[in-house]
Formats: sequence, C-alpha cells, structure tokens
Amino acid sequence: MSIRLRLIFAFLAILVLIVAYLIVYFWGAATRDSAVTQLDRARTRQVIVSSLREDIGNLYKQISLSNEVKLPDAETYEFDQLLKRRLRSISEDISKLEELTDPQERQRIEGLRAKYAELSSEWTSYYELLGKDESSALTHLVRAGLLAQQMLNQSLPALQESENQAAQDAAAEFQAVGRFTNRLVMIFFLLSTIISLTVAYSLSSYLTQGLKELRAGAALIGGMQLDYQIPARHRDEIGDLAQAFNDMAKKLLAARLQLMQTNEDLRASEQRHRSLVDHAVYGMYRCTLEGRFLDINPALASMLNYTPAELLALDSPANIYVNNRDWLDLVQNIQSKGRIEAVEVQWKRKDGTQLTVRLSGSVGLDEEGKTKDLEMIVEDFTERRQLEEQLRQAQKMEAVGRLAGGVAHDFNNLLTVIKGHSDLILSDLRHDHPLHSDVEEIERAADRAAAVTGQLLAFSRRQVLAPRVLNINTLVEKMEKLLLRLLGEDVELVAVLDPKLRAVKADPSQIEQVIMNLAVNARDAMPRGGVLTLRTVNVRLDEAYVREHVALKPGEYNMLSVRDTGVGMDKTTQARIFEPFFTTKEQGKGTGLGLSTAYGIVRQSGGDIWVHSQPDVGTTFKVYLPIVDAEPEAAISQAASADSRGTETVLVVEDETGVRSLVRQVLQQKGYHVLVAESRDEALHICKTHKGPIHLLLSDVVLKEINGQELSRCLVRFRPDMRVLLMSGYTEDAIVQRGVLNHDTNFLSKPFTPASLSAKVREVLDKTV
Ligand SMILES: Nc1ncnc2c1ncn2[C@@H]1O[C@H](COP(=O)(O)OP(=O)(O)OP(=O)(O)O)[C@@H](O)[C@H]1O
Ligand SMILES: [Mg+2]
Repeated sequence: MSIRLRLIFAFLAILVLIVAYLIVYFWGAATRDSAVTQLDRARTRQVIVSSLREDIGNLYKQISLSNEVKLPDAETYEFDQLLKRRLRSISEDISKLEELTDPQERQRIEGLRAKYAELSSEWTSYYELLGKDESSALTHLVRAGLLAQQMLNQSLPALQESENQAAQDAAAEFQAVGRFTNRLVMIFFLLSTIISLTVAYSLSSYLTQGLKELRAGAALIGGMQLDYQIPARHRDEIGDLAQAFNDMAKKLLAARLQLMQTNEDLRASEQRHRSLVDHAVYGMYRCTLEGRFLDINPALASMLNYTPAELLALDSPANIYVNNRDWLDLVQNIQSKGRIEAVEVQWKRKDGTQLTVRLSGSVGLDEEGKTKDLEMIVEDFTERRQLEEQLRQAQKMEAVGRLAGGVAHDFNNLLTVIKGHSDLILSDLRHDHPLHSDVEEIERAADRAAAVTGQLLAFSRRQVLAPRVLNINTLVEKMEKLLLRLLGEDVELVAVLDPKLRAVKADPSQIEQVIMNLAVNARDAMPRGGVLTLRTVNVRLDEAYVREHVALKPGEYNMLSVRDTGVGMDKTTQARIFEPFFTTKEQGKGTGLGLSTAYGIVRQSGGDIWVHSQPDVGTTFKVYLPIVDAEPEAAISQAASADSRGTETVLVVEDETGVRSLVRQVLQQKGYHVLVAESRDEALHICKTHKGPIHLLLSDVVLKEINGQELSRCLVRFRPDMRVLLMSGYTEDAIVQRGVLNHDTNFLSKPFTPASLSAKVREVLDKTV
C-alpha cells in the first residue's frame, strides 16, 4: 500500500474518531438538555401544585366563611368576585399542570380536574340558589366545602407527593445523564488519543524504518559498494525509492565495470604502445627545444651506450652531437616546417665513438598550439653506411680486378711468346754467343713480368685454381720451416692450431701463397722483432655477424688468423690495403700486390679476408674459408716425364698467332706431328678430314667464339680416343667459379716455357686412363 494511501487512511481514521467524538458530545449535550427540561417541568409542577394547595385552602376557608357569615351586598359582591378569580386561577393552574405533565401521567391530574369541576359546579349552583332556595344553596355550599376539603386532604397531597417524586427522579436522571455523557466523552477522547497515537507511531516508525534503510543503503552505495541491494520490503514510495536506488547502483556498477574495462583497455593499449616503443629497434625520444631529453626508449640508450638515467640527466645537445651546428640547424628546420625526415647527422656515444644517425620527427604542440617539445625517431645508420662503404670498396676492387685481369690475359700471351721464343733462341745459341746473355736477360725480365701478371690474375680472381679438399693445419705445418727462415731471429712464431679443424676446398699452393704474403707483411711490420701468431679454428658465422660483411653467407668456416705485434695501420691505410699496387713501403721494397693477391685468392675460393689493426699495437688478418664435408685428399705427385719427346699427332687450337706458332715450333722440335687450327670450325674440319689418328687436342681455354672445354667436348665426339690438354693464363669467372677445372682436367697455365709445354704434353699422352 502506498504511503499516500496509508496517510489518507490514517487521516480518515482520525476524522472518523473526531466525528464520533462530536456525535457523542452533541448527543450527551442533548440528553443533558432534555434531563434539565424534565427537571425544570417537575420543579414548575411542584410549584404549581403548592400554589394549588394554597388556593384551594383559601377557597375552602372562603366556603367555610360563606356558610357562617352574612355579608352585606357590596361586600358579598366583592367576595364573590374574589371567589371567582380564585376559581379561575385554580382552573388555570390545573390547565398549566396538565400542559407540563406528560400525557401518560395525566390521569394523576384528571381526578383533581374532575373534583375541581364538581366543586366549581357545586359553587355555581350555590350562587344560583342563594336568595332563592337557601337550603339547597346551602347544600351545594356544604358539598362544595366537602369537595374542597377532599381536594385539600387527599388529591393535592397525593399529587404533591407524586410531583415531588417526579422532581426527584428528574434530578437523579439529570445527574445520571451528566455522568454518563462525561464518561462517554472521556472514553472517546482516550480512545481517539490512543488510536491517533498508534496510527502516528506505526506510520512514523514505518516511514523512519524505510528511510533508515534507504539512508544506510545510500551511504553504502555512496561508498561505492555498488553491488549492495537496499531491501525493498513494501510496494510503496519507499520501496520505489529503494528500487530506484538499486537500479541506480546497478547502473553505476555497470558504468563502473565499463569504466574499469575502458581503463583496462586503455592500460593494455598504453602497455602495447609502451612495449612498441620499448622494443622498437629505432631510438625514440622527446626532448625540449634546448635539447634536454624528456622521454627516451631503451633502444636510444643502448645506441648511445648510456643507461637511460644517464641519458635523461644530460643537459646539453653537445653531449650527443659531434657538431653542435647540426643540432641548431635541426631545431630551426623542424620549427619552420613542423617536421623533418631522414636528416643524417653524426652523433657520439658515451665513449666518444661516432655513429651516423638518421633523424625524423615533428614538433609537439601545447594547448595553445605553441611548440612544446620535439618528438623524434632515430635510426642508426652507421652499419648501413659501413656496408655501403664495403660495397663501394668491393665494387672498386671488382672494377680494378677486371681491368687487371684483362691486361694480365693479354700479357700472358705476349709473355708466353717472348719466353717461348727466348727459350728457343737460347736452345739454338751456344753459351759463349754474345747474344746469349742478352736473351737470358730478356727471359728473366719476362719471368718477372710473368710473376706480376700472375699476381694480377690472382687478385682479379681469374687465375686458374686447382682446388682440393685440404686441411689448413697441414699446410701451416708444412710451411713452418720456410716461415721461420723468412721471419728471421727477432720474430717469434707461434702456431695455435685447432686439432679438430675441419677441411676446406681450396688450391693449396694459392693458400700457401696467402699465408706467405701475410707473414711477409707481418715481418715487415715488426722491424724490431715481435710475435707472429698463426691460429686456426672452426667458426660459425651467424646472420648478425655476417650482416656486417657483405661478402659472406652465414655458415661454418675455417678461420686462419695471422696476428703480429707490429706497427699497425691507421683507418685510411686499412681502407686501401687490398688495392693492387697500394704500398706504404719505399720504392723497390714492395709492389703493393701481396694483399691484393691474397684477397683475390681467398675471395675466389669462396671466402673472405678481414683486417683488424691498431697503430702501435699490431694487426690481425683473419682469413675465412668455407668448410666442406669431406676428407682431405692426398697430394698428387706431379712427376714430370723424363723424356718429353714424342711422335704422336697433336691438334693445337689457339687464336693468338704468336702463341700458336710458338707451340707448333716447340712440339715439332720434340718430334710431334702438329696440326694447327685458329678457330672452332677449322678444328672441326681437321677432325673430320684428317686421315689418321689425332692423339691430343691442345686448346686454349678462351677462344673467340667458344671456350676450350666446349670445343673439346665437341671434337671428342668425332675422335673419342683423343686426349685433351687445356691451356690458359686466364679463365672466365664462370669456369673457375663452377669448379669446372678439377684435377681430372689436364691444364697448362700460361705463361709456360717450351720445356713445361712439352713435359705436360708428354704427361697427358702417357697418362693411363
Ligand atoms: N701486418 C701489417 N702491418 C702493418 N701494415 C701492413 C701489414 N700488412 C700490410 N700492411 C700495409 O699494407 C700495405 C699493402 O700491403 P701489400 O702486402 O699489399 O703490399 P706490400 O707489402 O707493400 O708490397 P708486396 O707486394 O711486396 O707485398 C703495406 O705497404 C703496408 O702499409
Ligand atoms: Mg706485402
């Protein structure tokens, strides 16, 4: 039930009580009034009865007097008048008495009235007979006297008594009514007070109980105990209010959960962004316009070798920027354009080492749109720049190599001719001939020139290699004696060789050459003596390591390091040491081809060579060669035939006229039957048309329209028994790099001497297949 209804009912109850009270009150008053009236009438009747008694007494006296006294006429008249008035007054009193008496009690008075009527008639008869019939008159008078007496002695005292009784009853009634109504009013008053108080108490306690619960619930909800439910005991306004509070709490709870979820999402998002920034490979920071760091990520700190706290404590850009001008320009640029992109500047780390960084970023604005700070991203470009530098270096070496290779190729042909003809002349000249020593001089010069072209070819990676699976430890051990002699007494040789060293595939003589060149350089760098350490070890180069060195793929390598405690090199020298003809040695002491040769050989063998050097501390060269999964092969003995003469038929294919004629001359001198061809077609023609066997094909590797190998394969189809010997001073990258020239291939490298030519020809012809 609603409070409103409760209140209405309470008011109605009180109203009913008031109305009942009023009814009781007015009823009491009316009852009292009627009692008063009854009392008044009784009392009036008492008075009337008394006056009747007096009047009738007086009448009786007059009657008695009339009987005894004879009055003169005048007096008699007056007396009569008095008697009449008295009789009238008695009659009026009786009428009044009748009026004042309730009808059911009137019989009390009727006897009196009857007696009076009799008295009055007796009296009247007396007067009528007076003077006429005195005795009759007297009789009537006597009767009247008797009647009066009867009234006085019987009727009136009885009436008076009953009236007294009636008056007493009325008075008693009046008092009883008064008491009763007073009690009733009092009872009603008490009852309504009790009922009103009860209603007020129950209503107020009901209200205060509900409100108390509401207040307590509101306080709990206000204290954010949002899952609290205020008990809604009644279906009324307080219940509605409690329900409204509960709904509000429920909505608040939902809103709070949503808020918490939103907060959680925000936190997660912030965490993700934080993690993005923290794990970014790029440096990120915010700084003031004065260059003080406000916020940095770990990548930036590690880029600069500072701890984050140290970096945040730096107060000037001068601590970071190599040139302060760069910082000033950057601030100016970013302020005028709002952002910058990929600006390259030099920074320095905590230890002073420099790094190249690329800066991109924008200005941070405050609420008024003014520049507040700078938000920057930093990319460490040092490695990229170094790699570019390495690549440039490699490209330069490649270009130089190509040039050197081309020159060396032509030179080799020329030198073969010069040396060959010198040899032929010398074999024809006697020792005491005046030209003999001149020709010898020509030959020596040609030898030196051949050595230089050999080195150039090595550098250009176009020399013919004869790679074998080998263990570098074996090479080093074999060379130890030679090295000791080479290094002299002042230099100590230490060899730390890994007994588990795995095999590599390379040309042993070329690797020996590399070790030799490095050792000689080391000796030259230690004029006052020192230690030369040769170390071999298996290494695994991972992605990260290899990334810094353009030439290598990740994988397993042999590392041969050659370390000296010599004078070392500065960075400028280091940048150029692998260039051919770069030397710091005085003229005549060094050609500048040692390292370029080593470089070419190692690179051609699929490896790389790195240098680490510090002036006055020493230099370490590290040679990396790829490991192969095979056992080292035994060395092949290259026993030259004692007698290089023969009578077999040899087909010579060579496009260089000088070399061709030299070869023909040499072989003919040795007794061979020589067929010559300048081109593929000519060679093919001879193969097809020559009557008789062709025992050997001696071909240059590099011909104009075809390479020697392809030519040999083509010709062998017509002459399956024909053996093949290839000669060259130069091989195309393709042939060498694919490892075509394994040691099954018969090969003669240019420049050659007539003796080595005929020896090789004999060896190939004598080989048992
Ligand atoms: N171990 C080393 N210590 C210091 N400097 C070295 C070392 N090795 C090489 N160099 C420097 O590198 C330069 C080039 O060396 P490279 O071996 O190519 O030529 P070279 O030794 O000068 O002449 P050569 O042709 O006789 O070897 C040297 O002149 C020297 O300045
Ligand atoms: Mg050298």
